Amino acid sequence: MHAQPHDKGVSVTDINDLVDLDKGSLKGHMFTDEDIYQQELDKVWRRAWCFLAHDSMIPKKGDFLQNFIGEDPVLIVRQKDGSVKAFLNQCRHRGMRICRVDQGAAKAFTCSFHGWSYGLDGSLIQVPREGDAYPDDFDKANYPARPIPRLTNYKGFWFGTWDEEAPEFEEYLGSAKYYLDGYIDRWDGGMEPIAFHKWTLPNNWKFMAEQPTSDMQHSEITHVSAGQVLNKGSDAADRTLRGDNPTGRQFFSDYGHGGAWYGEKGSEVPNTGQAMQKWEAQPEIAEQIAKRLGDNREIRGHLNIWPTFMVLGNYTIRVTHPRGPGHQEIWAWTFVPKDADDATKDSIRRDVMRTFTPGGMFEGDDALNWEEMQEVLHGRIARDSGFTYQMTGAPIQWDEGPYPGGSTKHVFSDNAAINMYSNYVDMMNAENWDELKQLREKHRMGKSN
Ligand code: FES
Ligand SMILES: [Fe+2]
Repeated sequence: MHAQPHDKGVSVTDINDLVDLDKGSLKGHMFTDEDIYQQELDKVWRRAWCFLAHDSMIPKKGDFLQNFIGEDPVLIVRQKDGSVKAFLNQCRHRGMRICRVDQGAAKAFTCSFHGWSYGLDGSLIQVPREGDAYPDDFDKANYPARPIPRLTNYKGFWFGTWDEEAPEFEEYLGSAKYYLDGYIDRWDGGMEPIAFHKWTLPNNWKFMAEQPTSDMQHSEITHVSAGQVLNKGSDAADRTLRGDNPTGRQFFSDYGHGGAWYGEKGSEVPNTGQAMQKWEAQPEIAEQIAKRLGDNREIRGHLNIWPTFMVLGNYTIRVTHPRGPGHQEIWAWTFVPKDADDATKDSIRRDVMRTFTPGGMFEGDDALNWEEMQEVLHGRIARDSGFTYQMTGAPIQWDEGPYPGGSTKHVFSDNAAINMYSNYVDMMNAENWDELKQLREKHRMGKSN
């Protein structure tokens, strides 16, 4: 009998055998196992809210962008009335990609296999030979491209989910909203992408997701040379990268989001380039920021909105798409304040290029770690031994001072990673969102209910 993805009792790998969060232990199989990966596509990627596009990527009617939710290709299209629709980029005829272009403007989409055509809203509008080779009762209305049922625009960023029962996006964000706003809701003129890089790496997507969620501590080792070169002359940055000043804070919240920043208010290390700091220091801009954000205006370091919407303090904003258990495809945009002058924008672009693009110094450091980890996991014995998450020395605080959600008053902590994996395990175990909500309540870290 053929097993269905939701069948219970079929012989697939059980995530609960691989994770022991009380002991801070994860088995390597969860980064290599094909069964686990197939469950992730169904239980994580199909149910989570995922980033699709920014308004400025599809400003005019007919503008479209191709993106992915997990491994499912999707098209996000600006409609004639200015609204946005998104649908699976799969032809209803024989399953070819409807649109093979990454981004552009269109009046309709014609499949390049047999020529079925779809409107901007995904409806099937033309079928070659419909008049003479199809039966009279063939009805195009039965074959629209499959729409993404839930879409939302959060401050210019479009997110979507296939799950009709998922909570509203802002509920999904929860306390991560406060921190995300600190990056994306600063300037009256909004933001826009000015550069875009895509690349693949031979490692599991969770290695990357974990990093902006939680792992700041690798910086003082992995990135020490790059940090010394790039921050020459900046005392604060140099001190922190050497580990003299690991203050700051780490945050995490219910649905697996997490982030961290240096300095109690992020002020001790220039997370953004100097050009951005100078531009933001202008009185009228500083006033905008203070008015829009209040306290959280200084909080910029690393942030991940689960599963993989990542924002770094120098304004690489990115996702990684899973490509099987051992590969990922990273899509990284460089965002800038729309109102900034050209020199500032270009400086931000060069700063990101130097640090967090395929040829960037930090990115190369990170890629090496992830690739090696995955390669080691090819070993039978290595796959069976556990990874350790025990850096939990700083106590967990909830809604401490101005900081909503769970947080730890130390930038170096595994708490946000443990929280991310706790949410991951709950998603893998829960049959639906109701059950997931209950599990998350039950497993809220360090909080007695
Ligand atoms: S697969 Fe698209 S028209 Fe045949
Ligand atoms: Fe890194």
